Amino acid sequence: MATTVRREKWKGIQTSEIFLIEKSSYLSTIRLLSIDQNPSFAIRIKQVRMSIPTAFQQAVKEGIPSVIPPKKEYDNTVSHAPKRKDILSDSEKKLALKNALRYFPTEQHAELAPEFAAELKDYGRIYMYRYRPDYKMYARPIEDYPGKSEQAKAIMLMIQNNLDYAVAQHPHELITYGGNGAVFQNWAQYRLTMKYLTEMTNEQTLVMYSGHPLGLFPSHSEAPRVVVTNGMMIPNYSKPDDWEKFNAMGVTQYGQMTAGSYMYIGPQGIVHGTTITVLNGGRKVSVNGEGLEGKLFLTSGLGGMSGAQPKAGNIAGCITVCAEVNPAATYKRHEQGWVDEVYDDLDELCTRVKKAKESKEVVSIAFDGNVVDVWEKFDKEDIYIDLGSDQSSLHNPWAGGYYPVGLSYKESTDIMSSNPGLFKEKVQESLRRHAAAINRHTAKGTYFFDYGNAFLLEASRAGADIMDEDGVNFRYSSYVQDIMGPMCFDYGFGPFRWVCTSGKAKDLLKTDEIACQVLEDIMSTSPTEIQQQMADNIKWIKGAQENKLVVGSQARILYADAEGRIRIAEAFNNAIADGAIGPVVLGRDHHDVSGTDSPYRETSNIYDGSQFTADMAVQNFVGDSFRGATWISLHNGGGVGWGEVINGGFGMLLDGTPEADRRLKMMLHWDVNNGIARRSWARNDEAIFAIKRAMERTPELKVTLPNDADASLLDSLI
Ligand SMILES: NC(=O)c1ccc[n+]([C@@H]2O[C@H](COP(=O)([O-])OP(=O)(O)OC[C@H]3O[C@@H](n4cnc5c(N)ncnc54)[C@H](O)[C@@H]3O)[C@@H](O)[C@H]2O)c1
Repeated sequence: MATTVRREKWKGIQTSEIFLIEKSSYLSTIRLLSIDQNPSFAIRIKQVRMSIPTAFQQAVKEGIPSVIPPKKEYDNTVSHAPKRKDILSDSEKKLALKNALRYFPTEQHAELAPEFAAELKDYGRIYMYRYRPDYKMYARPIEDYPGKSEQAKAIMLMIQNNLDYAVAQHPHELITYGGNGAVFQNWAQYRLTMKYLTEMTNEQTLVMYSGHPLGLFPSHSEAPRVVVTNGMMIPNYSKPDDWEKFNAMGVTQYGQMTAGSYMYIGPQGIVHGTTITVLNGGRKVSVNGEGLEGKLFLTSGLGGMSGAQPKAGNIAGCITVCAEVNPAATYKRHEQGWVDEVYDDLDELCTRVKKAKESKEVVSIAFDGNVVDVWEKFDKEDIYIDLGSDQSSLHNPWAGGYYPVGLSYKESTDIMSSNPGLFKEKVQESLRRHAAAINRHTAKGTYFFDYGNAFLLEASRAGADIMDEDGVNFRYSSYVQDIMGPMCFDYGFGPFRWVCTSGKAKDLLKTDEIACQVLEDIMSTSPTEIQQQMADNIKWIKGAQENKLVVGSQARILYADAEGRIRIAEAFNNAIADGAIGPVVLGRDHHDVSGTDSPYRETSNIYDGSQFTADMAVQNFVGDSFRGATWISLHNGGGVGWGEVINGGFGMLLDGTPEADRRLKMMLHWDVNNGIARRSWARNDEAIFAIKRAMERTPELKVTLPNDADASLLDSLI
């Protein structure tokens, strides 16, 4: 923030006082502040607030420009989405063009149509690159956004963050993460949405259909300002190729979880989730209550999400060995400081790991090579692995998600396109070897878990020895079945997050302190069942500043239950009212207690058959909407694929008002207890404990509890 101090007569204000002219970095407002020359340095704002619209403000207010802007060169310095499948018939291609052109006046169609047709041919989608704005994309402070509604400004801030080049995976294609997690389908949608947000009042709601702003509709001040749906399909049209087709036509998009809901906070979210998983995984192998010191965690992948593993391992306090076949990914993570050391020789790796074990070092080590080689070598060398997992991209096994052992990275990428049949054979052969090596380690005591990347599913399809004796279930559990579900979600602990809209690091520091204090207060009286989760999150928040987790907006994540989330939010709202911090946006990952129905991930520890239903996520979205959320979202798709999951989330602006206080209490209570109640009905013991406790504390909460049927009674009948 640039400041100058001068003594002068300005705009007719005659004064001998010192004036501080404060201007935001983008000159959106100039405030003249009079500073009393007394020791308390109290600032009296008694003068002028003059607004000069910045280029950014003018551009967002303009929306789609009336004159066609100059064409933009394809910029090779940023990461681009891969060319998408050519899936449309000629008549469908015409429909895609017609759909794209409806954003523009008819007289411009002759100029735009050939360009859009070329985009469809070259990239498989119409992004409307020409309409990419010229201003920098990042989460500007809330006061830099033009508009009539603070809530709408907060939403603009969150959209800008999801498209920040430092945050987004393919920023020019409006993809935030996961290869296809889109904020919008094209730049016309982005521009129109931003314009609507600058115009809206707190008596209107903006309706978003998969990136397309349908319009502003009259509502009321207690209603959400924005309602987002992404990828909602008639169930029979929800297979992967349906996404390719209808996305290419411009009528739907894959919103992932926090991409199309404007709630992504960079890699911090995954670092925290992985830390919690490794810590709790450590508890499963702890014999006498000891911690992770000197224990070894072996896994693979240093890519988008998997790259969080070494950093999380360091925070959790173990020795992490993470194999990665792509040297570019390995060395990038090393340069970024996300992994401490790199080895490309297996013997040297073994020597280093033995030394780290002896001295109980906390260290993360990358192996530049295939993870199967490491599993096999550690078996031969009898290096004991305490925790094992895998985070190669096995949800995408034939197109670069998994690299087979015995082939170099380059050989694999060549065969993948020149001989896909052979490549598939190599992948399956590798998976069989991979699983066999894991089995030898687990026979010695290693705890192995699937990390939501479809490892067990693909290994089983490859014929690997990975099935349980019953021939139905896998021999190993997933991280949600064993760890996240019973230890976190069933008690209501999930990825609560917040963003300081002032953009100031000092506000984030203050919120960290507030959150830590609240958690410590709660922990002093909380039952033993949840003490461990409280302690883990207090440790996390205490180390958060030192671990330098912020990328993009001033955001923080921690796992908290309903009480923790409500009390932290309440304390933030009070601090805002006192002027200690600026407004705060609350939100969460959809990967949470109540947000997501996903039978092979978030709800994989639901065993009453209802894991294939999506009532919980839909009820959550609807329930949040009338309890005070500022915006809400419901998505088909997410980490596990189109048609495999329904997930929802919310955003809420805290502005220090009594209304915000009322809303946060009502909405956060529902947002967590909905999922606990469902998990309790599914007979999960931890959730039954948690919902009974919630009912004791809230007399208005009355939840149907399950009765357990005796297994012998059933056996006598069937
Ligand atoms: N559990 C969770 O919370 C969670 C969260 C995010 C992602 N995931 C899943 O984890 C997987 C990884 O996600 P990502 O974003 O990191 O993907 P990514 O593709 O960016 O990274 C995976 C990395 O694994 C490497 N790799 C592949 N085969 C290998 C092998 N045999 N040996 C060593 N390295 C190998 C690849 O080179 C790549 O860099 C995905 O399937 C994703 O769905 C799970």
